[in-house]
Amino acid sequence: MEVNYFSVVESGHEQQNPCSVDGLRRVAGYLDPQPGERVLDVGGGRGWWAVDLAVRHGVSVTVLEINPDFADAARRRAADAGVADRVEVVVGPAAEHHARDTDIVTCLGASFALDGSGPALAWMTQAMGAGGRIAIGEIHVAAGAPREVAGHEADDLAGLAAAFGAHGLELTGLVSSTVADWDHYESQHWASVADWTQAHPDHPDHPDRAELLRLSHHHRDVYLREMRAELGWSVLVGRRAHAA
Ligand SMILES: C[S@@+](CC[C@H](N)C(=O)[O-])C[C@H]1O[C@@H](n2cnc3c(N)ncnc32)[C@H](O)[C@@H]1O
Repeated sequence: MEVNYFSVVESGHEQQNPCSVDGLRRVAGYLDPQPGERVLDVGGGRGWWAVDLAVRHGVSVTVLEINPDFADAARRRAADAGVADRVEVVVGPAAEHHARDTDIVTCLGASFALDGSGPALAWMTQAMGAGGRIAIGEIHVAAGAPREVAGHEADDLAGLAAAFGAHGLELTGLVSSTVADWDHYESQHWASVADWTQAHPDHPDHPDRAELLRLSHHHRDVYLREMRAELGWSVLVGRRAHAA
């Protein structure tokens, strides 16, 4: 496909994850950002989270983002909000970025950029300074659901919390999305695809149209059949554990 699937399906999202604005601001509260602190946001998308932190908490944020469309949108958002001097967007694979001594490291819905939640926690922890805090937004199986959903292995919340411990982190906050939150996130995908296909009528010059619709309908089907009932989405917040 020439057209970037994600650039189309997430073109209308403010938050590109299933958490509500209230939920994300609660996450920020748990992280307790102080003016002047440095934040690293992995897979920052179109920059809502980075810009909200910069505006509301006076921090400086480095956003790591591989999609140039999203990176441009994040830069525009930062400029519109008057915080372009405190939001830097680095385009490229997050794993290639080297950071140390960061005050706060976040990754909302993008741990796959660092090979999954375990490697992401390891990478994020080494990027944190001594008083560092961390937030990771992750998919997980709902209590009692099978571990494999829609062809993917996922941990449960207790397993994610245990992974914090294994990386020397103390879990200090949890914000879980509701089914309504997740429906809202998915609905925006469907509407964006419908808008795009309306604007690009069926024509041999638009071979991407059929593929985009096929992928979108497939994802919607999987969401409605399996993910909606069997998966959850939560942001886990933590800090370095003190030695006992
Ligand atoms: C589900 S979106 C989440 C965006 C944002 N964190 C949010 O919650 O609004 C995942 C993001 O990770 C980005 N991404 C994927 N692979 C990446 C990589 N290797 N390095 C950096 N970013 C990546 C995608 O382009 C996308 O913007």
